[in-house]
Amino acid sequence: MKLRIAITGVAGFIGSNLAERLLAEGHQVVGIDNLAYGLREQIPAEVEFFELDIRDRRLSELLRPDDVVFLLAAKNCISDCQDDPVETASINVAGTVNVFEASRRAGAAKVVYAESSALYEGSDVLPTPEREARPQSFYAVSKLAGMAFAEAFRRYHGMRMTALRYFCVYGPRQDYRRAIPPVMSAFIIRLMRGEQPVIYGTGEKRRDFIHVNDVNDFHLRCISDSRTDGRVFNLGSGVSYSVKKIYQQVAKLLESSTIPAYRPDLQGEAEETLADISAATELGWQPKITLEQGLASFVDYYRTRGVPQLEN
Ligand SMILES: NC(=O)c1ccc[n+]([C@@H]2O[C@H](COP(=O)([O-])OP(=O)(O)OC[C@H]3O[C@@H](n4cnc5c(N)ncnc54)[C@H](O)[C@@H]3O)[C@@H](O)[C@H]2O)c1
Repeated sequence: MKLRIAITGVAGFIGSNLAERLLAEGHQVVGIDNLAYGLREQIPAEVEFFELDIRDRRLSELLRPDDVVFLLAAKNCISDCQDDPVETASINVAGTVNVFEASRRAGAAKVVYAESSALYEGSDVLPTPEREARPQSFYAVSKLAGMAFAEAFRRYHGMRMTALRYFCVYGPRQDYRRAIPPVMSAFIIRLMRGEQPVIYGTGEKRRDFIHVNDVNDFHLRCISDSRTDGRVFNLGSGVSYSVKKIYQQVAKLLESSTIPAYRPDLQGEAEETLADISAATELGWQPKITLEQGLASFVDYYRTRGVPQLEN
């Protein structure tokens, strides 16, 4: 069935990939973004786009009864959030509540919203199940506040909602324009430009990476499968790789023998992230893209589109 689906954060990495997928599935897509971090050119042309802040009260006027609303807009660079907890709360808490309230007023069918594996910062249980939420950073705490508000909206208004805890999502249009870009884009871009990539710490930290196409498979499930209502799901691959291993894989793909530069460790980062994905897999979802396939297609993406320059 063709649905009207609203995506906040549509100009960003996950939002633009989701828009593309939903359009390919025949849905109508309305996109909302204030372009604070995202790029207009990333929004597919068929999206009906509104440049608006998620804190704007006029948001409810853009939504219609029976819309499915994806809340992906957020202030999400952990170090930026540490520098400005007030703006972090403003966007990720007040903005989140405004999206929930606008969805309620409009009579939306469902809200699917982004949490983060950062909620597990204070847990040493691996693989980490959904009940382990122990946020530490301002970013993670802001996501926890969003979760508490979602519960209240469900309690008082019976809204259908699903929370998604993404681990390290990667793929085309991943945001590399940060002081410290995500490792995969950073390694690929540096090596393709003939520059020396940087590893912070020893390279032994391990991360659970999940390709954005696999994440989109679960997004579609949230729209069609009522068993996702009122629940929270980890979205990772259930496998972790060391940063060093990622580097070796990328270097092999690009046939590079460049030795990376090692710099002091970044503060406050977990030694390992690893998702317990049993809640999602019990519904029939499985990540399909292996690390080798995902990295190869990521390299192809930059080969076709051109290799950007990193800021630092
Ligand atoms: N990418 C990941 O690996 C990852 C991991 C965990 C959680 N998440 C969460 O998933 C969501 C999407 O992440 P992403 O990687 O696509 O991020 P992104 O930064 O690429 O996209 C976020 C988009 O939200 C927009 N935005 C920010 N503040 C806004 C505001 N006040 N009003 C309107 N738009 C605003 C930005 O301009 C940007 O286009 C975020 O909520 C993020 O916290 C992502």
